[in-house]
Amino acid sequence: MLYNISMKIGLLTGGGDCPGLNAVIRAVVKTALVKYGFEVIGFLDGFKGLVEDMSKELSLEDAVGLLPKGGTILGTSNRHNPFKYLTDKGTKDLSDRAIETLVHHKIDVLITVGGDGTQAIGLSFLEKGVKVIGIPKTIDNDLGGTDQTFGFDSALYVATDALDRLHSTAESHHRIMVLEVMGRNAGWIALEAGLAGGADLILIPEIPFTFENAAKVIKERERKGKRFSLVIVSEGARLEGGKQVIMRKVKDPTEPIRLGGIGRVVADKLEEIVGLESRYTILGHLQRGGSPSPFDRLLATRFGYFAVKAAAEKDYGKMVALKGNKIKLVELKEAVDNLRRVSPDSDYVLAAKAIGIGFGDE
Ligand code: F6P
Repeated sequence: MLYNISMKIGLLTGGGDCPGLNAVIRAVVKTALVKYGFEVIGFLDGFKGLVEDMSKELSLEDAVGLLPKGGTILGTSNRHNPFKYLTDKGTKDLSDRAIETLVHHKIDVLITVGGDGTQAIGLSFLEKGVKVIGIPKTIDNDLGGTDQTFGFDSALYVATDALDRLHSTAESHHRIMVLEVMGRNAGWIALEAGLAGGADLILIPEIPFTFENAAKVIKERERKGKRFSLVIVSEGARLEGGKQVIMRKVKDPTEPIRLGGIGRVVADKLEEIVGLESRYTILGHLQRGGSPSPFDRLLATRFGYFAVKAAAEKDYGKMVALKGNKIKLVELKEAVDNLRRVSPDSDYVLAAKAIGIGFGDE
């Protein structure tokens, strides 16, 4: 098919950064400029760039060297929702101002690269008549409509590597080592890194735990002569009937809390119950930085290409998604309305339990 109609694509990266964002930017720019002859305008710092009219035309030169580079050359923000924009006088709906920016730059289609927050904002713009196409990103892997988001695989690698390192020191000192990982209300990072890194106990938000049950696994290991244990806990994990641990409150009208700190609570309590010395590590933003894994580079490249193809074919209001081994388009609404969380009877959990890993629930 010949695409001799010129098109101007707006591109932004929103929410927390993650490995693979630059690989997406590269794929979007190359596909748009080389294959279709379109133009790409990058908006800076997520939706803030739309509200404050901060942008940069992206050339092929801008795409050079991006594939292995962490972060995003466009900048991002997880607290600039144009519909609830924080100003000196409280929050305001500045979505019309954002749309004026798009009109001013003659943008035909806006490609939003982000997690659930970004895609929800994209959906609100779609409902106001903006032609939007989403690309799913987040280390949390909790976005609906897609089997996987890019960024998750790289985070998994970092978390698994951390467990491997903690394993040897746990063994040397006969300690309980607790690793706290990110993921908000989804336990994917803890679950998959826990399995890949040989954790003895995995605590995730989807399976509430008790300390007595959690300690059982460690005591049982002790009984068999294993004087150390490796625990991975998701930042959003909670005790049965208990609350999540909040690390800090932030000036984000959409999501004003940041989780964190459960690792210390778990380490202290297990030490008290079991009697083995414990230490905890909060992996934090190490999970979001650095070079993307090969899997994420591939996924980001495929997503970037398919998003521009969808724009060329005027298939708006969709999000590119991984379904099995294929890239498909799903309704943006499907992605936003259905957050992906771990099912307690998923094969990951069943396999983990079958090989003796505890979840603190029984
Ligand atoms: O959504 C990605 C994520 O890294 C979560 O796992 C984590 O809870 C949150 O962002 C941290 O946000 P911030 O960078 O604002 O501390």
